[in-house]
Amino acid sequence: MSYSIPAEKISEIKHSADILEIISDAVVLKKAGRNFLGLCPFHSEKTPSFTVSQDKQMFYCFGCGEGGNVFTFVMKQEGIAFPEAVRFLAKRYGVVIVDHTSSPALKNQINERDILFQINRQAMEFFHHTLLDPQTGTSALSYLTRRGMPPRILTDFKLGYAQPGWNQLTNYFSGKSVALALVEKAGLISRRQSGSGYYDRFRDRIIFPIFNTHQQVAGFGGRVLDDSSPKYLNSPETSLYSKSRSLYGLFQAKPFCRQTGEVFIAEGYMDLLSLHLHGIQNSVATLGTAMTEEHIRLLKGVCQKITLVYDSDQAGIKAAQRCIELFRAYHQPEDIRILVLPEGHDPDTYLQQFGLEAFKNAANEASGVFSFLMDVAIKKHGLSLEGKLRVIHEMEGPLSTLTDGLTRIAAIKEIAEKTGIDESAIQEKLRENSPSRPLRAKPAEKAPDAGNKFEKHLIAMMLQFPEIIPVLIEKNLIEFISDPLLKSTGSDILACYRDLDNAPEQINDLPSIVLMAANNDEKKRLVAAFSIQKEEWGLEGCRKLIEQIERNQKRDNLRLLRQRMKTAEESGEQELLQQLTKECLDGQVSAGGR
Ligand code: UTP
Ligand code: MN
Repeated sequence: MSYSIPAEKISEIKHSADILEIISDAVVLKKAGRNFLGLCPFHSEKTPSFTVSQDKQMFYCFGCGEGGNVFTFVMKQEGIAFPEAVRFLAKRYGVVIVDHTSSPALKNQINERDILFQINRQAMEFFHHTLLDPQTGTSALSYLTRRGMPPRILTDFKLGYAQPGWNQLTNYFSGKSVALALVEKAGLISRRQSGSGYYDRFRDRIIFPIFNTHQQVAGFGGRVLDDSSPKYLNSPETSLYSKSRSLYGLFQAKPFCRQTGEVFIAEGYMDLLSLHLHGIQNSVATLGTAMTEEHIRLLKGVCQKITLVYDSDQAGIKAAQRCIELFRAYHQPEDIRILVLPEGHDPDTYLQQFGLEAFKNAANEASGVFSFLMDVAIKKHGLSLEGKLRVIHEMEGPLSTLTDGLTRIAAIKEIAEKTGIDESAIQEKLRENSPSRPLRAKPAEKAPDAGNKFEKHLIAMMLQFPEIIPVLIEKNLIEFISDPLLKSTGSDILACYRDLDNAPEQINDLPSIVLMAANNDEKKRLVAAFSIQKEEWGLEGCRKLIEQIERNQKRDNLRLLRQRMKTAEESGEQELLQQLTKECLDGQVSAGGR
């Protein structure tokens, strides 16, 4: 039996499979801070030390040191080899793997998907050229210019224009001898009701291509140039595109979300473009639909903090109520904020009129979901005694979703402050209705023993904050790591990082990629442990660590030099002594010169 499963398939499975879901089948997990905690299935224990990180898509047991990603877990748990684990997960997540054992029908189905993506890409290029060609695109271009969109945005987002008329695109594809039945399947043309042939779906509209996270063109949105209706027309739900599973701009936004740890979610195409235009590139848009669980899953592992931007109170309230439930699996409630813009504005009009600074200020003042809901409740019920009791009652639901003790205490404090009712009285009232207390256990954290403290930090930093790797390469820091295991892990990380050249947006997958590349169990555990450990790396912390390591390395070098000088002196090797003295002085000069 052939085992060669294509790398893209493995990557697709990795992106579809959710480690939390898979492990939850075997282990009862409770949220503990950013991670999930449970009793380790691989050794016997009474206090949970088995940790699962959903954003890293990894697990690590601080008790027995077992760790890895979703594939490793399935292998261990089911006692199967890697290819079987891949197939196991593929089956569960409906990813189709084609190999020589597959039926011809299945092979056709896969081929067809690839062809539909190609058709979409060709259509995107066609629309884009139509927009940029002065013969065909002038009216659309001037519309976009009027709305403040510069050429850069048009190219970054591959905007296009579908001309008026019924068969521009149909003719384009039939001219290229592409089967029109396939173009229809891609949702770009429709069959004529009477007579034969097809007509274009998008006519006289600005075209917004919608990419999936693999940079494939999944579908399109199209806006009219005037007030006619419907204002926006989207691709129909096809095998490639579903609006409840698409976030416009996610592909472009991903690296920025990862960098800032935060994402803004707006509601429309033009909002998203405006946010990008104004430098808020960590933004995406849901397209004419409320947030869904699939949207949240798309953002999993990209960033933790989410700000929902809404045009009106009403939309904001609805969203806040929905998302407190929706997000609870993956996010801390305090990480979700709701930004409601002044009446009559959406992010696009707000940014174009008031600019970036005003938007940032508003965003900084955005309330957390919890505070937002509380303010809404107070507005609704007022602050009479009767009103206050209603407010507390209304907050019980949201409060019960706060499983983290500290967050809960803070929330109760906030209710107390806003209603003027005593904290303990609120506690009392809440206790009546909530018998169970969340599990809170903190295992003694035990990381694998290897190397010195700074070197360990260095490797952890590379895994947790890969953006810093270029600096480490420039300073050649990995070369000088003294612990062999850490050094070899460091070189592995560098190699995997360099392999990302063609897909820089996959940088947040680096820990998992390194894990899969690691050639022995000890290294795998080390990578899992370091990726999962609770450390928050920011630029400042990285800079300090690098300085410290450089200082240590210089100190060690100097010590070594002095030893060699001593030996040279004792054996009377004058020439060598002189050379070493010079090196030593150079070292001291640069060591002291910072
Ligand atoms: P809006 O009506 O708020 O439009 O719809 P907008 O985004 O501000 O658009 P502009 O600024 O007038 O160009 C918000 C989103 O809802 C979806 C679109 O995704 C739109 O961006 N929508 C809206 C539709 O799918 N169809 C429609 O007819 C209208
Ligand atoms: Mn708008």
